[in-house]
Amino acid sequence: MTQKFHLGWFMNFTPPDWESEWASPDVREWANGKFYVDMARDLERACFDLIMIEDTVMVADAYGGTMEGSLKHAVFAPKQDPLPLAVQIAANTTNLGVVATMSTSFYSPYLLARTCSTVDSIAEGRFGWNIVSSAEDRAAQNFGLDALPEHDERYNVAEEYFDVVNQLWDSWEHDAVVMDRQTHTYADFNKVHTIDFDGKYFKSRGPLNTVPSPQHRPAFLQAGASPKGRQFAAGAADCIIAIGTGVEGMKEYRDDIRARAEAAGRNPDDVKLLFVVSPTVAATEAEAREKADRLIEAPNFVEKALVGISSNTEIDFSQFPLDEPLPPDLTTNGERGSLEHFMRGDGSGTQTLRQLVEHRIKRGLELIGTPDQVADQMAEAMEAIGGDGFLISKQGRDLSRQYIREVTDMLVPALQHKGLVRTEYATSTLRETLREF
Ligand SMILES: Cc1cc2nc3c(=O)[nH]c(=O)nc-3n(C[C@H](O)[C@H](O)[C@H](O)COP(=O)(O)O)c2cc1C
Repeated sequence: MTQKFHLGWFMNFTPPDWESEWASPDVREWANGKFYVDMARDLERACFDLIMIEDTVMVADAYGGTMEGSLKHAVFAPKQDPLPLAVQIAANTTNLGVVATMSTSFYSPYLLARTCSTVDSIAEGRFGWNIVSSAEDRAAQNFGLDALPEHDERYNVAEEYFDVVNQLWDSWEHDAVVMDRQTHTYADFNKVHTIDFDGKYFKSRGPLNTVPSPQHRPAFLQAGASPKGRQFAAGAADCIIAIGTGVEGMKEYRDDIRARAEAAGRNPDDVKLLFVVSPTVAATEAEAREKADRLIEAPNFVEKALVGISSNTEIDFSQFPLDEPLPPDLTTNGERGSLEHFMRGDGSGTQTLRQLVEHRIKRGLELIGTPDQVADQMAEAMEAIGGDGFLISKQGRDLSRQYIREVTDMLVPALQHKGLVRTEYATSTLRETLREF
């Protein structure tokens, strides 16, 4: 029997394609969330495990030292808060997992634990938290800080944070709500406890004042890519979202995470790794390739991509000539794993900045062709990597209904016919859905 793999979608609550001739006028109203609710319904029809909403909390000005690039090209800005959208999506779907990103650097643990619990109840057990520690000093400056702590120190903070919020979710025992009419008791106070957490970074008395949610704690997603990040993710995450470099790099990543999870006393099968991919499908292979080429040739494609990577790393990529290799010693206190991945390119060390941008669009695994061909490419890659699935995301910051439907109505049926992905939901919570196979 073929081993099935999981599908998720990674998106930003930012403007989708609003300017091409195919963008319908209602898309200009994207900020009301309806475009993304439609998308979530499409994903649910295609039996995706989850939709994941990215987040950062700033308008970047790393590229050229000005906000112009971010705002002109709508790269990570404007961006709406993911939580209300997660609630809106949850209220308009029944099986799809909904994941929102929240930063351990800016939310207080109590607020986050309370919010996750509430949203998981509203989503009837389908909510997930993408745990990030943020990567931009510009974000820190919106919260009264001059700069973020050093990269690895942020993970130390995140580890303690994770401990506090879990203790808060556990502050209500599973059977604390009794609703006993005889004794007129809603909740048994003997089963609700203070946590009296007093750590290096956080202090919280507890208990949480929300009622336990169906999953008790949200499903945990994480994208740590640096050694420190992988260590944290392997110990905490139900699902790791990753950018890989070719099937060999992806296999190494997955083997490493599974070994780390096992060393942390976890069953490695409880930690799923989903690799970001951006498939391009069309009726013929030639058409699909033409479509992929058109994206790279689009005006502003390179600049948009550089605004994006500048935003994630706070390195000004406008200062480097496009047709020369980058200086080899670039470092960041931001997304370290993402910078290394970008700079690695095809691994030759000779690629120019422009070639690195063009390489990045492949997301470590080029998937171009007819639905049948791409389904086979995905199956082959999964076979070589060992599992667990893919996280679809649109490259080029021009998400459209057409692209979503090409995936849900062309690619997914091909995958389903081959028995490679889910054709129905068998469980009710996101964590169970992720663990189903
Ligand atoms: C698929 C994916 C999604 C991510 N989403 C976010 C996000 O929404 N917000 C954020 O601040 N960082 C996000 N990141 C960045 C990660 O949290 C992390 O900083 C990055 O992968 C680099 O890993 P490192 O910090 O261990 O070096 C994402 C990374 C990946 C690969």
